[in-house]
Amino acid sequence: MKMDVKILMYDAKNYDKESFNIALKNYEGVTIDYLDTELSLQTVYLAKGYNAICIFVNCQLTKEILKKLANYKINLVLLRCAGYNNVDIEYANKKGITIMRVPAYSPEAIAEHAMALALAVNRHIHKAYIKVRENNFALTGLTGINLYGKTAGIIGTGKIGTCMARICHGFGMKVIAYDLYPNKNLDYVEYVSLDELFQRSDLISLHCPATKENYHLINKDTIAKMKNGVILINTSRGLLVNTADLIQGIRNKKFFGVGLDVYEEEGDNVFENREDDILEHSTTSRLLSFPNVLITSHQAFLTEEALHSIAQITIENAYDFFLGKPNTANIVK
Ligand code: NAI
Repeated sequence: MKMDVKILMYDAKNYDKESFNIALKNYEGVTIDYLDTELSLQTVYLAKGYNAICIFVNCQLTKEILKKLANYKINLVLLRCAGYNNVDIEYANKKGITIMRVPAYSPEAIAEHAMALALAVNRHIHKAYIKVRENNFALTGLTGINLYGKTAGIIGTGKIGTCMARICHGFGMKVIAYDLYPNKNLDYVEYVSLDELFQRSDLISLHCPATKENYHLINKDTIAKMKNGVILINTSRGLLVNTADLIQGIRNKKFFGVGLDVYEEEGDNVFENREDDILEHSTTSRLLSFPNVLITSHQAFLTEEALHSIAQITIENAYDFFLGKPNTANIVK
């Protein structure tokens, strides 16, 4: 059967185009048109005539949009990401639209970024960089702590948490963890209760998904249980942390450092250059006003290897779907 699959990619960045164009070379009959614009009720009509659309996690796939896609006879949405809390799955299924994602592309990429944040806030790299550029070679305010011999607490030991546990172990840290389903293969990890993890950890790194059950897992009560001088890293989802309580905890000098790749209310900021905007809320500014807080903008996934893998699996998802043999493990249910 000769393939002729046309995909429209919304909100395509240069790095998306590069990685997808390389991956397309292996899939004859699949073409992608790239749009800078995001998918919205105003732009969904551009998808008319395509077989599938491709979007990222920051795009809201609402009922209204899904209804339009169904009218255009589009029955496949390709998520070029792992997360899918942006999609009304039930409604998509009702409309006969299959949603496919990339469940795992490079857990190491996210874990390495988590450790990069931990190291940066611990050794004040974000401040040292600016100081030295200004010819300020003084060391005041730059003292860190050794991670060697300290305790790392990993919350969620799935694909990414497992990589983070391995990295922390490699640093000579004692690794403790909490997960609803402990991973028996991690023989160097001690599974403990959540309370014990909060009480014992010098570094806490979040790697569980955001669910109803763990909404605001980090809040004033759990912060109170943590050691003074703890380092907190979140590369998972903003909803895991109650930002107001975190800010209060920072003011109370609970934290040695806080590294966030994700935060509540990041929605309008993610991947946008908003240099000239007056932001809608002050959360980000308040967090950034603290010298021991470092924020990156949802970039933990951003490595060449991860982009290559995302492109490869996304196109494969489309190819196999239109061949009538979809990889069911990648279908969101
Ligand atoms: P995974 O599904 O492999 O692992 C998640 C683990 O969390 C599982 O072992 C699960 O049992 C555990 N878990 C679920 N609920 C829990 C709870 N309430 N308490 C403790 N553990 C719980 O997922 P993976 O691939 O490791 O991803 C983790 C998270 O990382 C994703 O859900 C996503 O939010 C985030 N992520 C962030 C990226 C970024 O660029 N910053 C990129 C990709 C993922």
